[in-house]
Amino acid sequence: MARWLTWLMDAQTPWTRPLGTWAFGWLHRFFSWAPTLRDFLIGRWLGHPIHAVLTDAPIGILFLVPVFDLLPNPVSAEVALIVGILAMIAAATAGFADYADTDGSARDRATLHSTLMLSALVLYIVSLALRLAGNGAGAGPFWTSILAFLVLASGAYVGGDVVYVLGNMVDRHAFRGTGTKWIHLEPAETDPDGSIPTGRPVKAKLGINNLVLVRDGEQILALHDTCAHAGGPLSGGKLVDGGLIECPWHASRYRMADGHVVRGPSIYDQPAYEVRAREGGGWEARRSAS
Ligand code: FES
Repeated sequence: MARWLTWLMDAQTPWTRPLGTWAFGWLHRFFSWAPTLRDFLIGRWLGHPIHAVLTDAPIGILFLVPVFDLLPNPVSAEVALIVGILAMIAAATAGFADYADTDGSARDRATLHSTLMLSALVLYIVSLALRLAGNGAGAGPFWTSILAFLVLASGAYVGGDVVYVLGNMVDRHAFRGTGTKWIHLEPAETDPDGSIPTGRPVKAKLGINNLVLVRDGEQILALHDTCAHAGGPLSGGKLVDGGLIECPWHASRYRMADGHVVRGPSIYDQPAYEVRAREGGGWEARRSAS
């Protein structure tokens, strides 16, 4: 069943890709122009995706519409419909902020998800309009809201795939262990005197992990090189605003001193590492306690 549904979703790519490219273009421009609004909507202040929190509300509320229709309790059905529509609009607004920095196959799938959700929203508005026009007890509003819920449930399935199958908005360090062992650090480049270059990020190897190093006087600041948002290489980014590193892919910013995210689209902190000089020369590092 899941394979067939995946095939069905992938078969939509001929129209989701161009539509997604177009929608991404203007949403990305808008939210790049308003990064504070984007960070609020994606949930950087909460450290958790807001869209995921908000989507539960409309699905639960709108499930009640046919229940109230069958009781029958038309006034409650109308109230549930109005609250559900408002909750859908809130969830969609947060979802568009996530979408503004979504790439590749996750964007194709997210385009399908958004299209289904917007279609369900239109159907719910039609159902509400019919009820308010005086057809509250009629078959038209009832079946329209049933159809809307089926479309809504399909959209929720596709949205689940965007996160659980394609890993969009999942912390890239979700499965990374902590560990307190000091390990030999191997910078990709050093100055002729053997020191870490200043004024720019430097990539380094720490066992199986890559780190980004920044020299701050005698101190070496280190974060994991893989951006928590979508895996961009921080060592390819740039230093900004004294002590922050900006990811080259979507411009998330992290504090080099402790890995705290200070600008989205990432909502997760970056693993930070302690670095110290090694007996006999060179450096060693270990993951900082978070
Ligand atoms: S990968 Fe998206 S901001 Fe770093």
